[in-house]
Parts: sequence; structure tokens; C-alpha cells
Amino acid sequence: MDFLKTRYTPMNRRRRIYEGKAKVLYEGPEPGTLIQHFKDDATAFNAKKHEVIDGKGVLNNRISEYIFQNLNDIGVPTHFIRRLNMREQLIREVEIIPLEVVVRNVAAGSLAKRLGLEEGTQLPRSIIEFYYKNDALDDPMVSEEHITAFGWANPQEIDDIMALAIRVNDFLSGLFLGAGIRLIDFKMETGRIWEGDMMRIVVADEISPDSCRLWDVKSADKLDKDRFRRDMGGLVEAYQEVARRLGILGESENALAGGPRLVQP
Ligand SMILES: Nc1ncnc2c1ncn2[C@@H]1O[C@H](COP(=O)(O)OP(=O)(O)O)[C@@H](O)[C@H]1O
Ligand SMILES: [Mg+2]
Repeated sequence: MDFLKTRYTPMNRRRRIYEGKAKVLYEGPEPGTLIQHFKDDATAFNAKKHEVIDGKGVLNNRISEYIFQNLNDIGVPTHFIRRLNMREQLIREVEIIPLEVVVRNVAAGSLAKRLGLEEGTQLPRSIIEFYYKNDALDDPMVSEEHITAFGWANPQEIDDIMALAIRVNDFLSGLFLGAGIRLIDFKMETGRIWEGDMMRIVVADEISPDSCRLWDVKSADKLDKDRFRRDMGGLVEAYQEVARRLGILGESENALAGGPRLVQP
């Protein structure tokens, strides 16, 4: 059985850079690259609620790949290079800006609660919010004043982040609407990349049903992580439905079944 040892490099021999709630980052094959591995772990309320949901990581890897590749193709810079396998993608290492950038089109979640709006109310215009990425503090909402005073990003960078957020929102809104899905809101992260003396900000992390609120246009059924937050069940089925409608999975393809498939004659 010795050949087994030489033919396969066990995954766990790679250097692990960071393990988060939903993903693991490994050292990439070249300097400046990382491998982003999608786990099946689902967390909410900053990890106070935690469960392992079979197949979630595979679906998020595919959906996030699809979104980031399309963003790259329309000239919105992202960290995404290419998908490597069922659970992993090759990305460019960035210096993460410690902000969660939330774009909202329709009232839901904490905004609905905070301002006493009924969930599902269309907002007068898209609203961008910033949260300080810090689990110990439960990701508190911050303003541009806090961001510049504490040096998390400068005013020019905040402008760049907002311009990126608007482009991503417009792209995602259209993409999902074409699939019969209403984009209620989403979260994105950004990071700095240096090319010589030039620094630019790119979209990083993931964009998936874990980080978006997605409602079926007709029924308003939830197709996102709120199914987990609110104990509704059917999370993997909902993510699979999103993937299917985006055309990522063929009618009969099962994202969770690995290996080669027989092509029907
Ligand atoms: N291109 C990148 N370079 C460096 N770090 C990244 C990149 N993309 C995402 N990250 C970071 O990697 C982590 C992804 O794992 P995740 O499970 O989401 O962690 P967390 O529990 O911190 O949210 C996040 O902290 C995210 O900010
Ligand atoms: Mg995260």
C-alpha cells in the first residue's frame, strides 16, 4: 500500500493560516495566494448558535465561485482566482479591512428591528452600512467617523469600498432577479492588494446564501441562512435551489455527489 502514500499529499500537510467559523485558509501554491476551504459549519448570532450541515460548504464554494468569477468578468476586482475542487478555491491573499459592508435594498433582520420597519418593505434607496469585524464585540455597527478615527480605512478607501458595494449590489440584484429571486440584502468584505507601489481594494471572502438574504420573488420563501437562524430547516435544499436557478447545477446534477457521472445517452 506504499504507493498510496506517495501518490497523495494529505490535505492536512498544508500550512493552515487561519480557521474561522465557516472556512479554513491554507497557504497557497505561490506567494500571495491562499486556498480557501469551505466547511459545513453553520453559525449565527456570532457563533452562539452552531451546527454542521452536510453539503453546505460544497454549495457555497460553487455559488461564491460563480458570483466572484462573474464580478471579475465585468471588471469588479475580487480576490478569486479559480476553484480547485468541491470545497476549495484559490484566492489572492489580501489585507482584510476589518469591516463587514452590508448593502440593503429591502428592510429585514436588524434594520427592521432597529427602525421598526416591517420585514419586506422596499427601502427608499439602497443603504450601505458598516460593522466592525470583531466577534468578541458582536460586530458592532460603526460610522465613517469611527472607521477613519481608528484608522481601519481612510476616506478615499471608504469611497472605493462604497463604489464597489454599489456595483456588487447592482450586479447581484440583476443576477438574482433573473433567477426569480429578490436580493433583500447582503454582506461583503474587502481587502487591500499591493501591485508594486499601487494599492487597490478588492472584494474578498465569500458571497453566498450564507451572506445574502434571498427571497423567492413569488412566494417570498427564504432561500438563505435565515432558515438556520430561525430554525426553519431545509437549508441545503434552499441553497441547492439557488444554485440550480443560477444554472450552476444541471437539472439532474447533485452538487453533493462527487466523482465522475455517467452521461445519459
Ligand atoms: N483573500 C483573503 N485574504 C486574507 N484573508 C481573507 C481573504 N478572504 C477572506 N479572508 C478572511 O478569512 C476568513 C474566512 O473564514 P471565516 O470562516 O469566514 O472566518 P470568520 O469566522 O472570521 O468570519 C475571514 O476572517 C475573512 O476575513
Ligand atoms: Mg466569515
